[in-house]
Amino acid sequence: MKPTQPDTDPLGLKEILAHYPTGVTIVCSMTDEDQPVGCTVSSFSAVSLDPPLVLFSLKNDSPSLDVIRSAGQFSISVLGAEHGDLAYWFARWREDKFTGIRWTAGQNRCPILDDAVSYFECELWRAYDGGDHRIIVGSVRNTGLRRKQDPLVIHRGEFKQMVESSEDTDLRSGNGRS
Ligand SMILES: Cc1cc2nc3c(=O)[nH]c(=O)nc-3n(C[C@H](O)[C@H](O)[C@H](O)COP(=O)(O)O)c2cc1C
Repeated sequence: MKPTQPDTDPLGLKEILAHYPTGVTIVCSMTDEDQPVGCTVSSFSAVSLDPPLVLFSLKNDSPSLDVIRSAGQFSISVLGAEHGDLAYWFARWREDKFTGIRWTAGQNRCPILDDAVSYFECELWRAYDGGDHRIIVGSVRNTGLRRKQDPLVIHRGEFKQMVESSEDTDLRSGNGRS
């Protein structure tokens, strides 16, 4: 296939990036007036175990970004395979994002979606310049695993099902470790 020039072709870069599969999360925070905010984020990634750190990047003009920076706290709810509807819902701008959504406040007051597979409660640790995004690094203060369920995966702009390998590929049993 023809290589593209990502530095001069942001649409080409977006297309290439879409070939990298990711999970889907809803990042939430709480305003000073106790209004929940949340948005769909697939740039979530693990950073460090000691200290426990995770990251995601958020568009500079995202209203959620202002709230996260002001609150200094946020939560990350990892979506399960059947919750593509929540991914779409939280990706659109609307004032009533939490109407009809089942959630509970975490220890840091930020919403955790009842339908989450797992969640992370974080304190804002650092925020870095990331071009047209801001890279948010969170210090993980609390975690939870709600249910054993396949995650929602997005690949080439579509939600995909995970398929179990027939081979013994359990990395936790030592396979693949150097
Ligand atoms: C599957 C999916 C993943 C997304 N991942 C991100 C992301 O990692 N960072 C980001 O800034 N926006 C991402 N978006 C777009 C935001 O969810 C969208 O811009 C949303 O309106 C932001 O919420 P806000 O405007 O209330 O802050 C994603 C959208 C979808 C559908």
